[in-house]
Amino acid sequence: MKLFSKLARSKGISKNIWKRQGVSLYSTETTSDAQKEDLAVRKIVQLTRSKLAENKNFKESDLEAAFSGSNFDKLLSNNPDILAAVYEFRKVVGQNSSHEKLLKLKQFATAPPVRVAVTGAGGAIGYSLVFRIASGEMLGSQQPVILHLIDLPDQVKALQGLVMELQDCAFPTLAGIVATGDPKEGFKGVDYALLVGAKPRGPGMERADLLRDNGAIFKDQGKAINDNASKNVKVVVVGNPANTNAWVASQFAPDLSPTQFSALTKLDHNRGLAQIAAKKGCKVNDIERFAIWGNHSKTQYPDISHTLVKGAWAKDLIEDKEWKEKHFMPTVQDRGAAIIAARGKSSAASAGNAALEHIQEWAYGTNDRWTSMAVYSDGSYGTEVGIYFSFPVVCSYGGYQIVQNIPIDPFSAKMLQKTNDELVAERDQVSKLVGVKREQWEDTYKRWKTDFEKKGSMPGLYPPSIDQPLIAPHLIQKVKFRILL
Ligand code: LMR
Repeated sequence: MKLFSKLARSKGISKNIWKRQGVSLYSTETTSDAQKEDLAVRKIVQLTRSKLAENKNFKESDLEAAFSGSNFDKLLSNNPDILAAVYEFRKVVGQNSSHEKLLKLKQFATAPPVRVAVTGAGGAIGYSLVFRIASGEMLGSQQPVILHLIDLPDQVKALQGLVMELQDCAFPTLAGIVATGDPKEGFKGVDYALLVGAKPRGPGMERADLLRDNGAIFKDQGKAINDNASKNVKVVVVGNPANTNAWVASQFAPDLSPTQFSALTKLDHNRGLAQIAAKKGCKVNDIERFAIWGNHSKTQYPDISHTLVKGAWAKDLIEDKEWKEKHFMPTVQDRGAAIIAARGKSSAASAGNAALEHIQEWAYGTNDRWTSMAVYSDGSYGTEVGIYFSFPVVCSYGGYQIVQNIPIDPFSAKMLQKTNDELVAERDQVSKLVGVKREQWEDTYKRWKTDFEKKGSMPGLYPPSIDQPLIAPHLIQKVKFRILL
């Protein structure tokens, strides 16, 4: 079904947003209640203790160990009751907590290290990115990281130079380095994966060649992530064609949710913000509700129709058709090519910066502000389900939500349709090249939807008051921290 007719039908529910009364779903109202949070965590700890105590040799230290590293993932995947309690806790903090509070919670030095993989680590984007990740710029100055630097086997020697430089920075947050040409080793236990490496388009190469070559790369990476990474891994694809590469990787990661994969459009988002700020003479932070829709390609739609500048609707920009359609949109859409034309090389520092911000926002939240991420489409706004489509999203507590009920005018609908069609065509082409049948991706979507609905409606299965005074406060902190990661 065409987007426009689908959107026309949903017009009625859009009125409030059009008046910009705020998206109630993302209200910043907080009624913080630390006791409620602690109670919810106590329930998790108590259930875990009972489970572990089924083993006669149970020791208190087993309880601590259960909440460390991948043990916690195993615990959750084998115990639906504990998982349900975790959802309950998330609901409590989701309602009662704030972005600042989460950041504060990160501020204790005993945080267990997280593993961050970067593919193409020896390349230009990798070089702009890994030092910033290692220094704590991505996950905070109190969050130790173990860097997994992955590149082609013939680049491993060069990676050793990068390792030496990283060591020589003596970053307090850098807890270890793995440098490898083997994706299995590279993705082992990783919590975040930034898939930067991809085959660039060379002279005489057709788009189909690019899709085929990268299809093969991302098929292998999807499998390696599926078999080796943490079950909660978050993946962002930077290498082009990013949206479709994300689709390929997710298709070969059947044990992970497709919502754990994403592609980078934060770069386009930042490009748009910079253009708006220059035009309005304001700071980028003064701008809200700007979004990139669709593919990280020329068909993307940089959308200012809902944009606020210093809290006021930027009507003058929206109504300046000449600026919007002849300057703003083409500048953002063609920026990658313009940089290549000027530098003779593609963007590196700005792409690395955007990838870092993408993960940071996904992990720690956007504090109710819109950002742009290419994520697994659930059909929102009439888009094709299952493709990786850039939407306006808000992130909180390690998750993202597509902002709903934004009114779409006829011009925007046309733009969404075009970029949607391009992504569908890319998927159809690459699926043949990597051998994924339609039934498979339709089945992936059905399984994801069923699972989502099951979890979404999971009731609180346990009585609300569990008094467990014996739980040490540091364990409560540790569990909270682990869940919120
Ligand atoms: C960019 O947007 O800067 C890059 O995706 C361009 C490219 O083709 O590498």
